[in-house]
Amino acid sequence: MTISHPEAAEYGGRIGFGVSGPHATPLLSPAQTTRLLRTAFEGGIRLFDTAPSYGDGEAERRLGDALQDLPRNQYMLSTKVGHNRDPGGRLVRDFTPDGVRRSIDASLSRLRTSHVDWLFLHGPALEELTDPLLRMLEAEIKSGRILRLGVAGRGSEVEEALTTDLISLAMIPVNAGLRPEAVSTLERLRARGTQIIGIETLAPALRTRIAPGTAGGVFRLMRAAAMRSRPDPHVRMNIRDALTWALARNRADLALTTTSSLSHLNEILKAYETLSADA
Ligand SMILES: NC(=O)c1ccc[n+]([C@@H]2O[C@H](COP(=O)([O-])OP(=O)(O)OC[C@H]3O[C@@H](n4cnc5c(N)ncnc54)[C@H](OP(=O)(O)O)[C@@H]3O)[C@@H](O)[C@H]2O)c1
Repeated sequence: MTISHPEAAEYGGRIGFGVSGPHATPLLSPAQTTRLLRTAFEGGIRLFDTAPSYGDGEAERRLGDALQDLPRNQYMLSTKVGHNRDPGGRLVRDFTPDGVRRSIDASLSRLRTSHVDWLFLHGPALEELTDPLLRMLEAEIKSGRILRLGVAGRGSEVEEALTTDLISLAMIPVNAGLRPEAVSTLERLRARGTQIIGIETLAPALRTRIAPGTAGGVFRLMRAAAMRSRPDPHVRMNIRDALTWALARNRADLALTTTSSLSHLNEILKAYETLSADA
């Protein structure tokens, strides 16, 4: 398989692990999260994604704790800005320069690192991408606290944010059940050379109507009603085919995935190993 993403190639893989969902809740213990992250690292995964809004910092803390004794140049960290939690646990948007700088400070502290490799603006509206914000982010890149900037989202805000040269990564859904509008967005982004970090890559392989057997399954059922970009339910695949689809022809440069289960993680690693060997 051709590895097109320069950093992912350097780090040896095109799969990333997301520390989110049950990893930010008591559904999983910190020790279980650590075990999964260490197994992912040993299996060759080198990109770990999270966000300050996942459990109000809990996911970032778990990620920072789990990897802190590994050499920092052996893995990449990605996190986000723009969505925080208020004391009542509700999501609050904040794309002000001061708010974003405070968010970066807090993320670096929880992740126990001096820099994040990729920082994603979490669904910014066009009017939230102000000149003062972009100047502040440019200064953060110059200082080395952020290596690259991206945008994460599901709608027109992704393409709008990519009109600034500072932003070069897009974190968007990439799976065989995408609606035609989402396929068109993906094709346009690819045509302009944006690097794509795929989310919801396993969606066509997940059967949400069966009784959940894992913490991730429970979390998914709880969140199902809130999902805005439910993939076409008629598209069904196994895990390996879903990953193959997402990574084929560089639809995604890197596929982000997550799990609460060691056996599911091993299935993902095995699927990735066989699809890399086949390519
Ligand atoms: N999706 C979003 O809204 C979103 C938004 C922004 C960022 N992200 C990032 O993207 C990462 C990936 O999230 P995603 O939801 O897009 O991931 P996904 O990989 O498409 O789906 C993850 C789900 O798949 C299940 N799963 C994983 N391996 C499995 C297997 N072998 N067999 C059966 N089920 C399996 C997991 O549940 P089990 O625990 O049961 O394995 C988990 O609930 C997140 O962690 C986050 O960092 C996601």
